[in-house]
Amino acid sequence: MSSPIRTERHDDVLVIVSDNPPVNALGAAVRQGLEAGIREAAADDGIKAVVIRCDGRTFFAGADITEFGKPMQEPGLPTVIDMIESADKPVVAAIHGTALGGGCEVALGCHYRVAVPSAKIGTPEVKLGLLPGAGGTQRIPRIAGVALALEMTAKGDPISAKQALDAGLIDKLVGEVSLEADAIAYAREIASARPLPRASEKTATADPDAVAAFRKANAKRFRGFEAPEANIKCVEAASNGSTFADGIANERAEFMKLMMGTQSAAQRHLFFAERQAAKIDDVPADTVLRDIKRVGVIGAGTMGGGISMNFLSAGIPVTIVEMQQEALDRGTGVVRKNYEASAAKGRLKPEQVEQAMGALNPTLDFAALAECDLIIEAVYENMDVKKEIFTKLDAICKPGAILASNTSYLNIDEIAACTKRPEDVVGMHFFSPANVMKLLEVVRGEKTAGDVLATVMALAKKIRKVAVVAGVCHGFIGNRMLMPRQVEANKLLMEGATPEQIDRVHVEFGMPMGPFQMSDLAGVDIGWHRDPTRIENIRDALAAEGRWGQKKQAGFYDYDEKRNPTPSPRVAEIIEDFRSKSNMKKREISDEEIVERTLYTMVNEGALILEEGKAQRASDIDVVWIYGYGWPVYRGGPMFWAKSEGLPKVVAGLEKHGFPVAASLKEAATSDGKLK
Ligand code: 3HC
Repeated sequence: MSSPIRTERHDDVLVIVSDNPPVNALGAAVRQGLEAGIREAAADDGIKAVVIRCDGRTFFAGADITEFGKPMQEPGLPTVIDMIESADKPVVAAIHGTALGGGCEVALGCHYRVAVPSAKIGTPEVKLGLLPGAGGTQRIPRIAGVALALEMTAKGDPISAKQALDAGLIDKLVGEVSLEADAIAYAREIASARPLPRASEKTATADPDAVAAFRKANAKRFRGFEAPEANIKCVEAASNGSTFADGIANERAEFMKLMMGTQSAAQRHLFFAERQAAKIDDVPADTVLRDIKRVGVIGAGTMGGGISMNFLSAGIPVTIVEMQQEALDRGTGVVRKNYEASAAKGRLKPEQVEQAMGALNPTLDFAALAECDLIIEAVYENMDVKKEIFTKLDAICKPGAILASNTSYLNIDEIAACTKRPEDVVGMHFFSPANVMKLLEVVRGEKTAGDVLATVMALAKKIRKVAVVAGVCHGFIGNRMLMPRQVEANKLLMEGATPEQIDRVHVEFGMPMGPFQMSDLAGVDIGWHRDPTRIENIRDALAAEGRWGQKKQAGFYDYDEKRNPTPSPRVAEIIEDFRSKSNMKKREISDEEIVERTLYTMVNEGALILEEGKAQRASDIDVVWIYGYGWPVYRGGPMFWAKSEGLPKVVAGLEKHGFPVAASLKEAATSDGKLK
């Protein structure tokens, strides 16, 4: 097999070029090629300097993640980087695209770095539950200081080329289209400069205040994750006076510890799961997409407004339709307020706010939807209302327009059946707040056309959502799995658990909130029948008393003016009352039982969803729960977690409580552990 690395001689400069699509990951062949390139330069007296650059869309985007967990092939990345840094001839990294992780570390091992202004540089390993394991935690603080090193390694967000230049991580910005020529010219400029600047020979100044402040400021963000603290400790070690070699040894040990742990396995699983989710098994990747130049949104409520913002922010004009002028004004007002709030926080420029608002066309005229290429209905959940809207859309919309419903439960096939073009109908289930939440469930109806699905998936990427295809079933993937959890949580209350205990178990597990905190936030009255005399369960009783959640400062918890919750004696009374009426005896409920009954049941429902073909793969379910409901990233989603928990244990836990266990789950527990 030919090497992904080639060398090109430009008189006295040797250019080492990587061509390893799609992202120039630093797999074994690339590492071997780099090593050979450096050797070639050393052996040739006519070569005075070296440039390392990449073909394609980016500089090295990191180590090859697919090699992780497999036997390591020599040379390791740290060895290659050491070899580059210890070379006698200057080596210049020429950066475009994204120099990430190991790619950033290769660049820092070079003596000099030039970059195009659009380049980005970063160490996102923490997002894979790791740390930069090829010298990044030691070289960044030595070049750019402890404070920036903490930001870059423990948070993992890349910085711009300009920021890198200011911090000393880049020596020069060069022309966007003349990177190679400029890098060669620069290499000649510095060819005889000695001593060569080597990051490992620099000293990082300790900054205990910055470290303490960083830990404090990010405590909430890092809750439950192991990798951020490991990054912080390695950066600290770079500045505590110990040698570079000791710092590297420590970094390697910490890296290997993280690599072997379940958190990194979960986070790496998510990386691939997210990319896999974009693929539709029976729709070819080269399907011709429909052109979406204008989007129509029906309903200017919270959902409609949030949905519109996604498109406006991506530069796609939106026609938003309401029935009443007042509702339309209120809706567009909220959109403006949200944009202005972002501008006040410095995330948008005032002109960007005006640009987005200028692309919004609010109207009471349904017929205006005729000019839209995609129309998303976002009115309340009522099948008759939706059918009426889709019948109207069928009459108004141009041929080839995609007709989407934002329904979170209803049957897309039934909605599609009232049009003459069911192949153009699809579900686009956004999560609230729709302008913030990353998940989009794309619901595939029985007749939805392949190009409609492919178009919506591509559009999702454009508006920076993570899209997952779901089949038609009540609640699709996410909300369907929420149901057994809620049913069991309610039963547990009756049997003796408190809302506080159940919520605590979920929060300790890593969820942003438990089921009752979620009810209070969303509104206890949602879906309530509105008859205060009809009290059939605890929720009815709360709703009848006006305990509708946070908005009323009373729900499953009592709230003060700042919405701080405290356990509610009144709720305890209501639960007790129900319990005695049902002749139930209160018993001690263990945290373990809560996990088994509220989380194992979700896994079981997930297995049923897979059996019924309502999700393409187990990893899609994980993506839904991580991006739609805040399932802890470091547990990799419910289906991944079930495997790390041990499928036999999950099955036994379900059987212990008398749940009918999905056949596929049972089978996977006794065979290969694979859930599709
Ligand atoms: N290793 C292996 N495959 C990778 C990869 C990597 N580091 N990075 C991306 N890929 C693959 C993706 O899985 C995807 O494959 P597919 O087409 O089969 O689904 C393909 O490359 C394209 O990736 P994206 O769809 O993500 O392309 P984008 O253009 O949207 O994004 C990117 C490009 C910004 C580079 C993004 O892929 C990315 O963030 N990659 C990961 C970067 C990273 O985490 N680097 C650190 C790795 S760990 C490390 O370096 C350890 C070291 O310190 C020792």
